[in-house]
Amino acid sequence: MKKIAVLLIGFVISVGQLRADEGMWPLIMIQQLQDSMQARGLKLTADDIYNINKACAKDAVVRLMSKQNRMFCTGEIISSEGLFLTNHHCGYGAIQELSTNEDNILANGFWAKNKGEERKANFNIGLLARVEDVTSKMLDSISLTMDESARAKAVADKLTKLQASLKEGLGADKDNYVVEVVPFYAGNKFLAMYYMVYKDIRLVGTPPENIGKFGGETDNWMWPRHTADFSMFRIYANADNKPAEYNASNKPYAPLHFFPINIQGKNPEDFAMIMGYPGRTQRYTYSKGIQYFASKERPMRVKVRRDVLDVYEEFMHADPKIKLMYADKFAGLSNYWKKFMGEASALPQQQLFEKRKAEEDKLKSWITANNKGAVYNELFSLYDQAYAQQEKYGLYSVYFQDGVSNSQPMVFALGLSKLEALLKDKSKSEEAKKAADEMMKELDEQYKEYFDPIEVKVLATVLMHLTEDLDHANLPKELVDLSAKYNKDYSKMASELYAKSFLTSKEKMKAFLASPSAKKMNKDMIYVIANAYMNKMNVDMRPISMEINSKLSRANRLFQAAMLEMDSKKLYSPDANGTMRLTYGRVLPYNAKDAVSYKEFTTSKGILEKYTPGDIEFDAPKKLVEMLKAKDFGQYADKDGELHACFLTDNDITGGNSGSPVINGRGELIGTAFDGNWEAIASDFGFDANLQRTISLDIRYTLFIMDKFGGAGYLLNEMKIVK
Ligand code: ARG
Repeated sequence: MKKIAVLLIGFVISVGQLRADEGMWPLIMIQQLQDSMQARGLKLTADDIYNINKACAKDAVVRLMSKQNRMFCTGEIISSEGLFLTNHHCGYGAIQELSTNEDNILANGFWAKNKGEERKANFNIGLLARVEDVTSKMLDSISLTMDESARAKAVADKLTKLQASLKEGLGADKDNYVVEVVPFYAGNKFLAMYYMVYKDIRLVGTPPENIGKFGGETDNWMWPRHTADFSMFRIYANADNKPAEYNASNKPYAPLHFFPINIQGKNPEDFAMIMGYPGRTQRYTYSKGIQYFASKERPMRVKVRRDVLDVYEEFMHADPKIKLMYADKFAGLSNYWKKFMGEASALPQQQLFEKRKAEEDKLKSWITANNKGAVYNELFSLYDQAYAQQEKYGLYSVYFQDGVSNSQPMVFALGLSKLEALLKDKSKSEEAKKAADEMMKELDEQYKEYFDPIEVKVLATVLMHLTEDLDHANLPKELVDLSAKYNKDYSKMASELYAKSFLTSKEKMKAFLASPSAKKMNKDMIYVIANAYMNKMNVDMRPISMEINSKLSRANRLFQAAMLEMDSKKLYSPDANGTMRLTYGRVLPYNAKDAVSYKEFTTSKGILEKYTPGDIEFDAPKKLVEMLKAKDFGQYADKDGELHACFLTDNDITGGNSGSPVINGRGELIGTAFDGNWEAIASDFGFDANLQRTISLDIRYTLFIMDKFGGAGYLLNEMKIVK
């Protein structure tokens, strides 16, 4: 009897070990995954990870949010005093803002010597209090097949009302919370997320940029990697441990839970899980959608972004002041430039089209065999129509996001359109004056990261791409005429428009706002073109884009409903949507391509190999180089005597997971996730267990930089280190 049981367990485990599981799992599903996770080496229970009635791992996971509460990254609490870790590239914007040419902590690094030296950082964090399934509340009177526009309206109304009423239900504490009702499985399910939002966040420390971003854009999305991509912050709270605006008298936040840190090292196949906030995936994209992204959407984005980045680089390389000024904009654009470029080439190679097509055919057969055609058949023709339209009209919004939005004067122009409307209405002159005064106050902020030579050239690039790449029938006439007048000399066109515009310096804008007039606006061609483009999109093309979106959302919802119905026993992981997820897997090497296989970790040897003095991406502080050469790694050395830098696991993550804790089977922190590998660059569209790896920073390299390099070893006192 005993023997059989053992054999059976053995069988389950070995099957489990053969396959890496796709899946960014919502926390309310992990009860169902507990056995499978424990079979892989998890020593905790699902309750230790997520339970709203007791302190658990989820309480140590931090959601990084802008001041407007838009999520952008993940972090993890590592001390009883609210200290948390995230990536360097997540703290980057805040660190840049705290840097000046005289005190450039982005370039030089920074460690607060005591709490008094910590610096106010300009973002919020959210702590997930609980998750509630509100599907029945959302969909009680809404059917799958009801008319789409009526349905969309009903759902949107319910969602707003429900969010408000759930928040109201929190009573006296409600202002400390953000409540988000979020669709899952393309709107077949809805979950409410309750976040307690803390607003007083302070920078504790960061390595210098040439350690925290070592390898730069060349190494981005690549393995082998040697970047110490981390920064440290602290959450502050009022006397009751509740959220409060920044105030010198606030106290370090006392968390419900924080992660102990394990510095014993790890072995291949060790259990590893990641909890965090993946932003967005599109794993259920229709086959024709894969074609559209591969052949059109991604290649266009890549082209426009590259040209803008070239302009940035030209000036950033020439002047450290400009490098600091445009650092954050550059990093953001460049990160997804590279990702989109990779997707454009990987999507056709990885047979994703064929894979999706096969899934669709399987679903079609099931629909027919089960007489479900009346409900589901329309989804296929909806997809076909929507993607045919998308091929023709989809690029205008792409050029808005990657073109128009990258020109600062154009963005400022868009921000003024409301003022124009007020100015044109005689009865609203008071309001117009108020609006102009408000805008006046924003000017310092607005022009803080603004350099004329870059902005003129970017404008030329944007005008060129709009005119050359898009169908003139859908472009503003003003743009088409003007480009013809300049005979395609976009540099000349841009410099002349730029010189005449009031949008191109703080002083000119100030003068304009002091006595604003609609007439002045309409003589400014940058203003006119930017707003006419917006108008084309929002007015002329609005019916068609609404039609496309409505077809796509209906088709997606029907597709995923059919899929869930067809395989009702299977656990499907819903697409990422900025809510907390868990992915589990193992520490694991990989075979990248024929004859190329990679180890699962890198060491400081590789830093010395890559080190190139004076190089913009591969330089490193002399002090670090000396320390690595001397191999003085102290307690951070691996048992092999080396300092391990980064490592791989087969966890399933995406953008937004940046900064997430990598946790061992005992719930201890072993690393911080910061990237994915090049071979799986198209993973947002499809998961490939053999190829997809998460790249994480080894916690021992983090602590080595903080303690031995940065001299901030006193922070160890508030952590719990498992040696
Ligand atoms: N690829 C990383 C991510 O998307 C970001 C890395 C940032 N570093 C950089 N060199 N841009 O999470």
